[in-house]
Amino acid sequence: MPDQNNSRAAHLAHLRRQELAKGDPVPLPLTMASMYHLPGSPAGFKQYGRFDNPTWDAVEAMLSHLEEAPALGFPSGMAAISAVFFSLLKAGDRILLPSDGYYTTRLLAERFLKPIGVAADTRPTASFLDGGFDGYRLVFVETPSNPGLDICDITAVSKAAHAAGALVVADNTTMTPYGQRPLDLGADILVAADTKAPNGHSDVLFGHAASRNAEVMAALAEWRRLAGGIPGPFEAWLVHRGLETLDVRFDRMCSSAEILARRFLEHRTVRSVRFPGLENDPAHNLARIQMQRFGFLIALTLGSEAEAEAFIDGCAYIQPATSFGGVHTSAERRARWGDAVAPGFVRLSVGCEPVEELWEAMKASLAGAAG
Ligand SMILES: Cc1ncc(COP(=O)(O)O)c(C=O)c1O
Repeated sequence: MPDQNNSRAAHLAHLRRQELAKGDPVPLPLTMASMYHLPGSPAGFKQYGRFDNPTWDAVEAMLSHLEEAPALGFPSGMAAISAVFFSLLKAGDRILLPSDGYYTTRLLAERFLKPIGVAADTRPTASFLDGGFDGYRLVFVETPSNPGLDICDITAVSKAAHAAGALVVADNTTMTPYGQRPLDLGADILVAADTKAPNGHSDVLFGHAASRNAEVMAALAEWRRLAGGIPGPFEAWLVHRGLETLDVRFDRMCSSAEILARRFLEHRTVRSVRFPGLENDPAHNLARIQMQRFGFLIALTLGSEAEAEAFIDGCAYIQPATSFGGVHTSAERRARWGDAVAPGFVRLSVGCEPVEELWEAMKASLAGAAG
């Protein structure tokens, strides 16, 4: 049987071909429009820039192909998450979030859901099933979690949450559709920050939500249209371009991360390494079952804040930056944002550089950092 990711990737490159008439440009044109030519009855036509855009349609067709589900684009990952929360939740609902996932999702719940009567509890990703899901309207998983790279069993969470009457939302930002398929594992809604690897060039913010539940998609589309949290056409065009090479970039990044994680594990300066692809990692057995690849993020703990900063800043092939998933390897100390991690904890996002050159630069920087 052909690898499904390969057949998805091959088809993706020719998705637009079906739409082309003789003489049309092969690459996607960028349509910047708030207005459409619209005499007479508007029904059935593109009407206004907040409702429709041909460049959105093209990028959403790609995302939908990759997710095997209808997909909607948003101006950032957080805009996609906000759309899910604000279109589906009402006063009196209770939701469950990961205590160790991307902190802004918890902050959004604390600052803007709580005041309108939506309560949020949190639980660590590694023990997400403990305690069950009774009483929750929505259960939100992020696996592997950012930044700790713990994972939870999406199939088991979905089964238990559905039995309790909850909707399951999975943030798939750290994995992309080529690395993990939450909707196939039972999640109802997928959200992702395409700001990261899907765009891949660190020049755009973008997000998407996808679901095979038509009611959910209708609610999200209506929310986007009325609230006005719409993506810019140029950003959509750039993400369209980025998605064309996601398969190759993701493959290189994950393969390099597998090699580098093993070398970090053996390096005397590195106190600990979390990477789901390492056989001794607590997440490994589950990762092998539920993920297609082990991802491109590595969590390293060095001896101190100073050592970690020196490693990052002293490496010619690491961009000291927040965010991840770009073609350039990047890293940061997550404690600087207040994440509950050690001062020497570094989230490393492995990019597309040739791996041996990357390792030589990292090894030199580790030696310098250890002093
Ligand atoms: C797991 C995860 N989800 C969502 C987001 C939010 O994405 P954006 O910055 O595009 O709003 C991020 C950003 O870092 C993230 O890491």
